Amino acid sequence: MANTILVGAQWGDEGKGKIIDVLTEKSDIVVRTQGGNNAGHTVHVGEKKYVLHLVPSGILRPEKLCVIGNGVVVDPVSLVDEIDGLRKLGVEIGENLILSETAHLVFPYHRLLDEQRELKKAKNKIGTTKRGIGPAYGDKAARTGVRVIDLVNPDRFRRLLAERIEENNEFLQTLGAEPLSFDEICEQYLSAGEELTPFVENTVVRLHEAIKSGKSVLFEGAQGTFLDLDHGTYPFVTSSNTTAGGACTGSGVPPHRIERVIGVIKAYTTRVGEGPLPSENREIADLLHDMGREFGATTGRPRRCGWFDAVVVKQAVMVNGIDDLAVTNLDGLDTVERIKVCVAYQVDGKRYDYMPNDIDLLGRCQPIYEEVPGWMTSVGEARCWSELPQATRDYLGFIAEKTGAALGLISVGPGRDQTFPAE
Ligand code: GDP
Ligand code: IMO
Ligand code: MG
Repeated sequence: MANTILVGAQWGDEGKGKIIDVLTEKSDIVVRTQGGNNAGHTVHVGEKKYVLHLVPSGILRPEKLCVIGNGVVVDPVSLVDEIDGLRKLGVEIGENLILSETAHLVFPYHRLLDEQRELKKAKNKIGTTKRGIGPAYGDKAARTGVRVIDLVNPDRFRRLLAERIEENNEFLQTLGAEPLSFDEICEQYLSAGEELTPFVENTVVRLHEAIKSGKSVLFEGAQGTFLDLDHGTYPFVTSSNTTAGGACTGSGVPPHRIERVIGVIKAYTTRVGEGPLPSENREIADLLHDMGREFGATTGRPRRCGWFDAVVVKQAVMVNGIDDLAVTNLDGLDTVERIKVCVAYQVDGKRYDYMPNDIDLLGRCQPIYEEVPGWMTSVGEARCWSELPQATRDYLGFIAEKTGAALGLISVGPGRDQTFPAE
């Protein structure tokens, strides 16, 4: 398969993990390039369910190489737990996983700062996953981060950690939080570092050599386009570049090696956390929650839900250069008689065909909907395009037309076999 970047084209949780798992079959290498364990990627294989946070979803196919790239922020204790948990579920993890030396680390003070900042913001909070992601990327940008390469050098790690704990404890105390113990963190992190040492590598060189020898790479995006630090609904975003460009900086693979970009979308819209969601709709949220769906894979929070927003996905197609769409969760709309699609916004008597950048204005946008008939039957049994009801195919065609991307893959259920090409 061509070297492919897969991105979430909405606000995360589009079903990226599931599509990665399907596409990995035709790829040699799967790379995570940004985000951290704020991600939760669910993959069902047979009766088993896996939720991946830092480990690429490709790990479920043991013959493939999985890479945690330089752009990821890694909580090493959490990574060791995740690897242990996966091994307990029978997943083989050994030489099939490598971790970049230059990935930055997440520390307990990052998590505490994340929590404290959210408390201070009160009703203006972002609704983060409290995994310390923002403060960890903040340290990276401020050049005060500590990296994997430091963790596997205990002397240097002790020195850097001592400096960081001293500075952060001062700050945490001014916020009213308890100071952290250097000894405890140092012991815990060095022990995790020892466990991770066999995985640590210069992943840039490894990826270049692999590509040179004809191997194909699949870049597993985390979060979604509108959580991107530059292109998302700032400040209600995460702290990394979740869009296609982030895959290059976060892996060291140059843009001209990328041959294809896939955008994953749900057949409707969801968002966890705060911030604008123009097509949010109570009825569709109740419908999906009553089906036991749309609860966060990382925090268990109920996701906010709405109709499909073509304005949003059209923008995602633009900033990521999406060639084709993978549409998941079509079965969530099985019982909806008339399906609405947001095709533009309206605010203060003015129509917007693109998302306004002013966050307050976006928050006040009213969706302009077009309606299409639902299919009112279960699509979960369909195994190819021709087995989908005509109304479902029409809905998909409508989405493609309104967003300007081709249809690539269709997903009608969580299972591997419930995915097929749109042809
Ligand atoms: P990710 O973060 O983008 O990997 O998505 P999550 O795993 O957080 O959330 C997507 C949810 O939708 C998971 O529970 C998946 O198992 C589920 N899922 C993915 N595709 C489908 C589908 O076509 N139908 C149904 N019913 N569930 C799906
Ligand atoms: P996957 O990869 C959905 C959201 C949080 C919050 C905002 C900032 O599973 O799609 P952070 O902890 O990153 O500082 O939180 O981003 N968020 C996600 N929402 N899916 C995710 O990942 C997310 N990762 C972060 O809810 O609104
Ligand atoms: Mg998720």
